[in-house]
Amino acid sequence: MSTSSGQIFQVVRQAARIEEIIGEHIALRPAGREFVGLCPFHEDRRPSMYVSPQKQIFYCFVCAAGGDVFKFVENYHKMSKGETLKFLAQRYGITLPEFRASNPQAASQRDKIVDANLWAAQYFQSNLAGRIGQAAREYLTSRGVHAATIERFQIGCAETQWTALASAAGKKGISSETLVSVGLVKNRSDGSVYDVFRNRLMFPIVDSSDRVIAFGGRILPSPAPEPNATGPDQEGPKYLNSPETALFSKRETLYALNLARQPLIRKQLAVVVEGYMDVVGCHQAGVENVVATLGTAMTEQHVNLLRRFCNRVALVFDSDEAGRRAADRAIELLLRYPVDVRIAHVPDGKDPCDFCMTHGGEAFEKIVTQAKDSLEYAWEKMYTAFQASDSLTGKQRASEALMRLVAPAIFNNSVDPIRRGLLQKNIADLVGISSDEVHARIRRLAVSTDRPSGDSGAVKADAVPPAEVDMGLQRAGHWVIGALLCDFSLYQEFRERITVDVFSDPQMAALLARLMEYLEELPDLAAGNLAEFVAMLDDSALVRLAIQAQAEAERGGNLKQIIDDSLNHLEELAQRRSAESQNVDSSQAAPDVADRLKTAVDARTRAVKTNKLQRNLGPRPSGG
Ligand code: UTP
Ligand code: MN
Repeated sequence: MSTSSGQIFQVVRQAARIEEIIGEHIALRPAGREFVGLCPFHEDRRPSMYVSPQKQIFYCFVCAAGGDVFKFVENYHKMSKGETLKFLAQRYGITLPEFRASNPQAASQRDKIVDANLWAAQYFQSNLAGRIGQAAREYLTSRGVHAATIERFQIGCAETQWTALASAAGKKGISSETLVSVGLVKNRSDGSVYDVFRNRLMFPIVDSSDRVIAFGGRILPSPAPEPNATGPDQEGPKYLNSPETALFSKRETLYALNLARQPLIRKQLAVVVEGYMDVVGCHQAGVENVVATLGTAMTEQHVNLLRRFCNRVALVFDSDEAGRRAADRAIELLLRYPVDVRIAHVPDGKDPCDFCMTHGGEAFEKIVTQAKDSLEYAWEKMYTAFQASDSLTGKQRASEALMRLVAPAIFNNSVDPIRRGLLQKNIADLVGISSDEVHARIRRLAVSTDRPSGDSGAVKADAVPPAEVDMGLQRAGHWVIGALLCDFSLYQEFRERITVDVFSDPQMAALLARLMEYLEELPDLAAGNLAEFVAMLDDSALVRLAIQAQAEAERGGNLKQIIDDSLNHLEELAQRRSAESQNVDSSQAAPDVADRLKTAVDARTRAVKTNKLQRNLGPRPSGG
């Protein structure tokens, strides 16, 4: 990386507000000078990711994910370094200098996927706006969808012809291989290609960084046959989705999360509906905290995604049988998480879209607020099963099933104590055992139930700084590095005494070497920046070490004193170690000999240190 590109990164890093960038994807709450939220890089149960606006870094105390704003964007949005730079520069209005024209051969597969999908989204939109789109426009109008909504959701349509998209893409130089890989066209046996989506309304699926990653295509009522048409296409399922690609996985994607994200965070409630059209209808009616799964049941990934933004989820299903089944499946999953889940069905055989169109957003919100608590929902279902069974074992099985279902929820703190007590009492009354016995049984089940893995206590304890300065070898190294990371200018004063070879711990030594390298390259120690340094470290173990050391030293008091004490300790240890190794060699040496030896060793240690210093450091920065 050239100096100038390094400078660009630093300019963008300084301009970017890390809490803002991360806060768009995770609900953050203030914790002292920092913010804390659920870590998106592991299955976090309690908020363990810290974001420090002041230090410009984020850090997870559980999984050790950490780094600067670039690292977050890279990992979260799965972008390359270059993409991240562009993304952040654009966000903060920074014009990037012209880079060398990118080599088309080097363009990654991901770029191709993104470009092809973006082009296709625009192509479908222009179809809808033009003559070809008349029938689709009429259909949308008949469903009550406004032009502004069409625009907001970038809805388009696919032609009835078999090769309309394929040939339009060809003219734009998009290869058919790329089109095949994103599922927009398919190969015929003779090598020619045909459009996958024909005569369909096209809903682009947009990811967290506003890239079109896939499409959902809803079949349109069959058009009047055109004279030259190969024949209108009426086959196929009601909806077709793009296939999974490097960027698109149904299990991890929620439709319209890009539009719903801020409203979700604001309202601290996510409404999940079943269909694309439902989302469109709700948003148009002014209820914007609404997303949909993509024709699959809720997955664990969906739950984790939503939990980053809010801890309340309302599932609003269609009133049909399929909607009931979907609700049952979702409940089983959601009860395992510390999320407040409510379930509702839209009345009168409608779906959320129709309902919003007829009754408006406020009425829909009412359904949401009146949604039934998931435990109550589960209870009613099981109660019915219990009542329906006339044999004793049938009843027993039903009560066991209910307890098994509610056990995780009762022990993961997603249920308030009053609700929990009531539920236990209900079960007790029904089954004819005491409430305490119910509690005991549920506890046994909760322990044996496969629960999502949570934070490890050991790692957490590790993050807590010791009450007093631990002067062990490891600790001393930790403190030196930590204090330097708090105040780079201290390096000036201690430079002569800081050497990699006093650090016996290899990771600590590696970190110190990187830090010295970084500091030596700075034009001025005052230009040092923690986030920049952390961003340079590619090794997450080193990032973890650096961030922990810095945080501990920050709380440790007088930094200069910390470094001085720690170095004294390290030097003493190093001398003692070399003396001991000499002593082993001349184990029979008399005390005075040992003393002389020690003096010699000290001298040599100093010499080695000086040599190393010169090798490692080169000339001192000016002003020293
Ligand atoms: P719906 O049939 O309820 O669709 O299926 P919808 O979006 O509400 O559309 P309208 O109101 O009937 O016009 C719900 C979701 O299930 C998936 C789609 O994601 C759809 O939005 N689905 C449905 C499929 O993936 N394939 C299908 O054939 C049908
Ligand atoms: Mn529907």
